[in-house]
Amino acid sequence: MKYYERMKEKFEKLKDKKDVLILSIESSCDETSVAVVKNGREVLSNIIATQIEIHRRFGGVVPEVASRNHITAIYNIFNEAISQAGITKEQIDAVAVTYGAGLMGALLVGVNFAKGLAYSLDVPLIAVSHVYGHISANYISHLSLTPPFICLMVSGGHTAILKVESYNKMKLIGTTVDDAVGEAFDKVARVLGLPYPGGPEIDKLAKEGQNTFKFTVSNSLKNTFNFSFSGIKTEVVNLVHNASQKGKEINKADLACSFQECVTEELSSKAVRACKTYEINKLVVAGGVGANSRLKEKLGKICQENNIEFFSPVLKYCTDNSAMIGSMAYYMIKDGIGLAPLSLTAKPNVELGCDKI
Ligand code: KG4
Ligand code: ZN
Repeated sequence: MKYYERMKEKFEKLKDKKDVLILSIESSCDETSVAVVKNGREVLSNIIATQIEIHRRFGGVVPEVASRNHITAIYNIFNEAISQAGITKEQIDAVAVTYGAGLMGALLVGVNFAKGLAYSLDVPLIAVSHVYGHISANYISHLSLTPPFICLMVSGGHTAILKVESYNKMKLIGTTVDDAVGEAFDKVARVLGLPYPGGPEIDKLAKEGQNTFKFTVSNSLKNTFNFSFSGIKTEVVNLVHNASQKGKEINKADLACSFQECVTEELSSKAVRACKTYEINKLVVAGGVGANSRLKEKLGKICQENNIEFFSPVLKYCTDNSAMIGSMAYYMIKDGIGLAPLSLTAKPNVELGCDKI
């Protein structure tokens, strides 16, 4: 019997298996990560090799450099993940991998490694969407968290509000009409001369500043759940350029603080309004920008005032890691979705594959 036909049977059996050990791989951007996750919630290992230092000198991720570094790192990271989990390769029930969204070359490294591994171990290959993986970062951070909930998805590539009805059923309530919020953080940081990645740098610098600029976002999306961040991004860039042309000093900490106040206000108020509109009293934040201290502070406060339970991933699971991919894969297996053939390829753009309300 051919691999895929054999895997259909194995995949089916995993639905009812008591303990499922998943080896998961993530290489969508500048982190090479391999994890071993038991039953979707217990992280036995989660090894991450970050390339931040390598890309910092270029001011951002250089795709070709990222791919090459994934290739160099992945085999050792895999061995370390197995050894730290205290398991043998033969105990692995399935191999999960991020197939998109992300950088084509970077994704291909993880996808091809996963294909080879799944084939050699004769176990099912599960194709996981990176964005949904970010949501699952909350399942490994909060063991009692279950859907339904509203998710505020804030990363370098996506900004959206989702109604998560069950582990694999989501509805898109709102999305950005232009830039992702992480992109705006990174661009503003760059123009302020801060190192890559900019989000954490703005977070730090903002603590020393005041909201003196009092930025606002465009009013045209006020009554929707959609976002626009390109306006405020351009406003900050123009302010900095004009000041430098006139030889004027600009208070960077105030600018960082004002930018952060504006975007976190927009994100938190719309997320909470979504909870109220859809009568769901659980809010979950996901994605790299979910690490932002001011965003978490605001969400915590506004949720408390509105009797909404608030969840955010522990810091190490906020940004890219493969434990979140292993968690998502478990719930896909249980719902009978995600089994991939060996012809699986990487997809740089994956739609938030859910119904739009
Ligand atoms: O989820 P992630 O690691 O990768 C994507 O899937 O895109 O998100 C990366 C983004 C970057 O834009 C980074 O600057 C931002 O998350 N980020 C933050 C913070 N930590 C990471 N943004 C604001 N505040 C932070 N503390
Ligand atoms: Zn990510």
